[in-house]
This record gives sequence, C-alpha cells and structure tokens, in this order.
Amino acid sequence: MRIAFLGPPGAGKGTQVDLVSREYGVSVLSTGDAFRAMMKREDKLAERVRSYVEKGELVPDEVVFEIVKEFVDNKDSFILDGYPRNLRQAELLDDFLEGKGLALTGVVNILLDEDEIVKRLTGRLVCPQCGRVYNIYYSPPREDKLCDDCGVPLERRIDDEDDVIRQRIKVYHREMKPVVDFYQRKGLLFNVDGAGDIHEVFERIKKVLDGK
Ligand code: AP5
Ligand code: MG
Repeated sequence: MRIAFLGPPGAGKGTQVDLVSREYGVSVLSTGDAFRAMMKREDKLAERVRSYVEKGELVPDEVVFEIVKEFVDNKDSFILDGYPRNLRQAELLDDFLEGKGLALTGVVNILLDEDEIVKRLTGRLVCPQCGRVYNIYYSPPREDKLCDDCGVPLERRIDDEDDVIRQRIKVYHREMKPVVDFYQRKGLLFNVDGAGDIHEVFERIKKVLDGK
C-alpha cells in the first residue's frame, strides 16, 4: 500500500491517516507535522519554514521533497498526508517512485465543503505535549481545554487563525486542481466524502482501500 491523502485544510486527513495507519500497520509521513516539529527548533531552516506556514503559504517544493524522498526511499508501503500540494510536487514524487519501481498504488482525495472546513479548523485544539487533536464542537476534551492524557493546556495551531485559514483554503483551490487531474488520468484517484463523523468517513476509506 503506497497511498497519498489529499484534501482541503481540515478535511480530516490527519485524523483518517492515523486510523488507516493503525488498521493496516503502514507508516505515515505528514509533511505538516514534520514542519511543526521542525518549527520548534531555533535554526535558519525552522525560521524559513515558519515564514511560510504562519502565512498559510506552501513551503518551497525543494524543502518538502527532501523530507518526502528520505521517508519513501525503499519503502514497500507508506502513507503520505498532505503531499503533494501542487503539480510539481506530484511530478517530483512520481519520477522518484517510478525510478524505484514503487509507484503510488492509490490517492485518496477527501472532499468537504467550505463551511464545514472552517468549523473544523476554528474548533481544533492540539496538545502541545502528545500531539493529540481535539475539536471543541465534535470531540472536546473532558476538562475545559486540557488534554485528557497529559492534563496540559491545549493550544491552537499557529495557522488556525481566521485570516490564515482563508489563505490556506485559497492556496488549496489555486494549486490542487492539476494534481487531482494528474492522478485521475493515471486511474489512481479515489474521491471520498469527508462529511459525517470520523468513523463513517473511515468506513468509506476502508472500502476504497480494501477494494484495491
Ligand atoms: P498541514 O498540516 O498538512 O495542514 P492542512 O493540509 O491545512 O490540513 P490540516 O492538518 O489543517 O487538516 P486535516 O485535513 O489534517 O484535518 P484534521 O484531521 O486535523 O499543513 C500545514 C502547513 O504546512 C501548510 O499550510 C504549508 O504551509 C505546510 N505544508 C504542509 N505540507 C506541505 C507540502 N506538501 N508542500 C508545501 N507546504 C506544505 O481535522 C481537523 C479538525 O477536524 C480536528 O479538530 C479534528 O478533530 C476534526 N475532525 C476531523 N474529522 C472529523 C469528522 N469526520 N467530524 C468532525 N470533526 C472532525
Ligand atoms: Mg493534518
């Protein structure tokens, strides 16, 4: 299984790849998570990455692809969450994997309308210690804004401010159409409705993955 998960910000990519990874025992690279880990450092690259992420812009392709290349290299199975985000990233990955004889086996494209995207993102809280993701509307912590597991105060992501959310959605619409067409032409694209609760969406994704 070599799968990429696409979808607008807040579509549920991270939530679903966690479930898929556990169910099928496949390792995941979330480029967004990789950048958030990087941004905790105090070096030049972290500063450069932060300057894009905090504005809701894409980090330059070369920087992202270095991380992706290292992760997928010689793996039989993997899941990518949030890569590729533009046509160039798709082509870089395609060339690299074809060269190894390990092309993607499928691309899951989670679809969600904009009102729901905004609700999910404005409601998201994350534990700074363990990374557990909550949502004040759908999956709130037991105690107000404290992690159920660690007891520490939950935080919003730096890119979940209203204006940055709007910019991320704009970038998504600007860049993703050619990516979707690229995988559609290859017969690899599976659209999945991202509306409904987490387990309903997971059942839809399992149907796609089990049918392959
Ligand atoms: P990234 O971290 O990938 O952010 P994103 O694509 O904007 O997506 P999110 O992580 O916000 O949403 P998600 O789809 O994972 O949803 P989640 O499961 O968390 O990227 C961040 C930034 O890094 C980018 O803007 C860019 O700067 C940079 N970057 C990353 N990859 C890059 C690349 N390839 N190239 C260049 N730059 C890159 O769910 C959201 C919320 O909804 C949560 O609260 C969750 O609990 C809740 N939820 C999930 N599913 C459901 C459901 N079914 N019902 C109710 N609530 C739900
Ligand atoms: Mg995510």
